[in-house]
Amino acid sequence: AIDITKLRSETGLITSDLGYKSTGATKSAITFLNGEKGVLRYRGYPIEQLAEKSSFLEVAYLLIYGDLPGADELSKFRDGITRHTLIHEDMKMLYEGYPAKAHPMGVLASMIGALSTFYPNAQGSELDPEEVDLTIRRLIAKITTIAAWSYRKSQGFPIMYPQNKLDYCSNFLHMMFALPTEEYEINPTIVKALNTLLILHADHEQNCSASTVRMAGSSHASLYAAITAGVCALWGPLHGGANQQVIEMLEQIHSEGSDVARMVEKAKDKSSDFRLMGFGHRVYKNFDPRAKIIKKVADEVLNELHIEDPLLEIAKSLEEVALNDSYFVERKLYPNVDFYSGILYRAIGIPTEMFTVMFALGRLPGWIAQWKEMRDNNEPISRPRQIYVGPNKRDYVDLENR
Ligand code: ACO
Repeated sequence: AIDITKLRSETGLITSDLGYKSTGATKSAITFLNGEKGVLRYRGYPIEQLAEKSSFLEVAYLLIYGDLPGADELSKFRDGITRHTLIHEDMKMLYEGYPAKAHPMGVLASMIGALSTFYPNAQGSELDPEEVDLTIRRLIAKITTIAAWSYRKSQGFPIMYPQNKLDYCSNFLHMMFALPTEEYEINPTIVKALNTLLILHADHEQNCSASTVRMAGSSHASLYAAITAGVCALWGPLHGGANQQVIEMLEQIHSEGSDVARMVEKAKDKSSDFRLMGFGHRVYKNFDPRAKIIKKVADEVLNELHIEDPLLEIAKSLEEVALNDSYFVERKLYPNVDFYSGILYRAIGIPTEMFTVMFALGRLPGWIAQWKEMRDNNEPISRPRQIYVGPNKRDYVDLENR
């Protein structure tokens, strides 16, 4: 790699790389991915093994602290998180102020930002490691409560408090779906599927939201502030928002008579802005390994829960048509993680507008790991340069003369 910093100080050179397609913004030891071969590893462990054998909190620990935890470390980490699932009672009042139709990503971003006012730790240039660890546990714990309550509010349902006897995924499902009037039965198939989904989304190196977290955090803003910035970056349809859009696209195809080929033609037509949502990836120019795992899990879960979802069939034929079309083949546009995650979320009862929030829940440990690595390595403030293309010097013209 070229040492650009050295080159710039010697020559004054500035590189132009729109979208940072070829720019390494940092050195990182967290996630390895090889887009040509479809390889993804967290801290060296293949994603396939973690998805099959691990739990989400174990993966969170691995990403944040660098190694798989021992039994004692894992149990302390889990307990620490369980202890912090409640949010400050006064935060409940904030929910009253949102419009009923508020998008839960907007609620999530503002509530995480608000956490910094209730728990003002892990900010500034001097970090206390214990405070950082506490903040990490608080964030991982409270995001489930914040997310579930934003859904309950949008439905006009009473909020459910966390239950500390439940594991991480079961507790989240309980807060989402339990009713005070009935016993809520936790379905182990759903818990397992949710665990897998969260693991698969836990980190993906220097993507848009992770880079945003690192960039915001590089000013030494608080960890809460950096994560809020990450949530906002994830929201867009070209990033985390794609999973919601995939389902909406599949629903549209279904309602218009399942004409898959027509949608493929529309996506190829450059006169429209339309893209096949869930296809293509900045780095994967081969199958996204996460999409392979999700597709299999979605099949199994739909089978086990006896769900027949016409959208799954449409998704499969869309994939088949697109993968045999030279437009997609030449541009190496394969289904990405979001193509099947929406179908799986639907199968386990998560409403469409919550899909991107689910992505944020999964991605949180990755964001934290990226922030921590950036701070531990004392990285300088992020401050890209530009190539100025505006007007040359010109003199101010008084209003009456314009
Ligand atoms: N449908 C149709 N054409 C596409 C698609 C698509 N989904 N994706 C890319 N293309 C085409 C582009 O039009 C472009 O064609 P051209 O060379 O003829 O102009 C070519 O493929 C390259 O596309 P770029 O936009 O340059 O690729 P980039 O790496 O910048 O974008 C991205 C990657 C944003 C993911 C893009 O493929 C896309 O918009 N996909 C749909 C949205 C989506 O699924 N996002 C989720 C990403 S995964 C995640 O965030 C977890």
